[in-house]
Amino acid sequence: MSALLSGKVGIIFGALDENSIAWKVAEQAHAQGAKFVLTNAPVAMRMGAIQQLAEKTGSEIIPADATSMEDLENLFTKAVEIFGQPLDFVLHSIGMSVNVRKGKHYTDLNYDWLTKGWDVSAVSFHKTLQTAFKLDAMAEWGSVVALTYMAAQRTFPDYNDMADNKAYLESIARSFGYHYGVKKKVRVNTISQSPTPTTAGSGVKGFDGFISYAEKLSPLGNATADDCAGYVISLFSDLTRKVTMQNLFHDGGFSSVGVSDAVMQAFVDGSKES
Ligand SMILES: NC(=O)c1ccc[n+]([C@@H]2O[C@H](COP(=O)([O-])OP(=O)(O)OC[C@H]3O[C@@H](n4cnc5c(N)ncnc54)[C@H](O)[C@@H]3O)[C@@H](O)[C@H]2O)c1
Repeated sequence: MSALLSGKVGIIFGALDENSIAWKVAEQAHAQGAKFVLTNAPVAMRMGAIQQLAEKTGSEIIPADATSMEDLENLFTKAVEIFGQPLDFVLHSIGMSVNVRKGKHYTDLNYDWLTKGWDVSAVSFHKTLQTAFKLDAMAEWGSVVALTYMAAQRTFPDYNDMADNKAYLESIARSFGYHYGVKKKVRVNTISQSPTPTTAGSGVKGFDGFISYAEKLSPLGNATADDCAGYVISLFSDLTRKVTMQNLFHDGGFSSVGVSDAVMQAFVDGSKES
């Protein structure tokens, strides 16, 4: 079978270190024959790990703060120049909440921090899409994917204002997906991923307990970053051309389960002990 992304070119946002979901996507996209530009916020560049990924995958790095229209215009213009063709795929793998970082409770949010986190985690997706749209930087049947979490639909108390950011992000995929579909047959989707041990994920309070709970609740177990990358690749490929404006759960079945035998057993054992 020929490589799934052979001849395809794109941009991958958000590879911070080898745990990042975007890092795994870059590795798998490379293995499937794609060429891409790697990008991250200038401040993340200083950590240096992205250089190794660029060498490994033969990619160029173009720094961009995803909240800056100027940076995004530069990024898309240069990427199209580098490849000499419009882009087939874009991965938005970006998230940050100042309130989560600083341990501010949801009932006591700092609104300057909320606005910053909303801009980085949600509005940046609109900015990315709008930049590509105005520059006509995407090829027909191109695919844009952003990563999200189920706290957009159901309450996870410690996910804090990121829950609201993710709800907004998912709505942008539907709204922009309509316009991009009509204009250029470009697909726009979000993938709702299992809790995953990355820098962003581990920043959420109680993450370790939560990841074990999700593992026990999901019939297939938690989806790893590598599993997620595989799903992203399928959405970048031509095999999913009519999938758009969707929020796609990639969580080992977690989102459909009320309770599992494994979780129930922990309560039965617990009540025997007490
Ligand atoms: N880890 C999880 O449990 C989990 C679960 C579901 C969804 N997600 C989502 O997956 C995506 C990727 O996160 P991850 O878990 O790989 O963690 P990560 O920390 O490796 O990646 C987050 C990235 O966002 C980048 N970023 C932050 N501010 C930016 C800005 N202004 N401009 C450009 N980039 C910026 C960071 O530099 C980093 O590379 C996020 O949207 C996250 O919310 C993560």
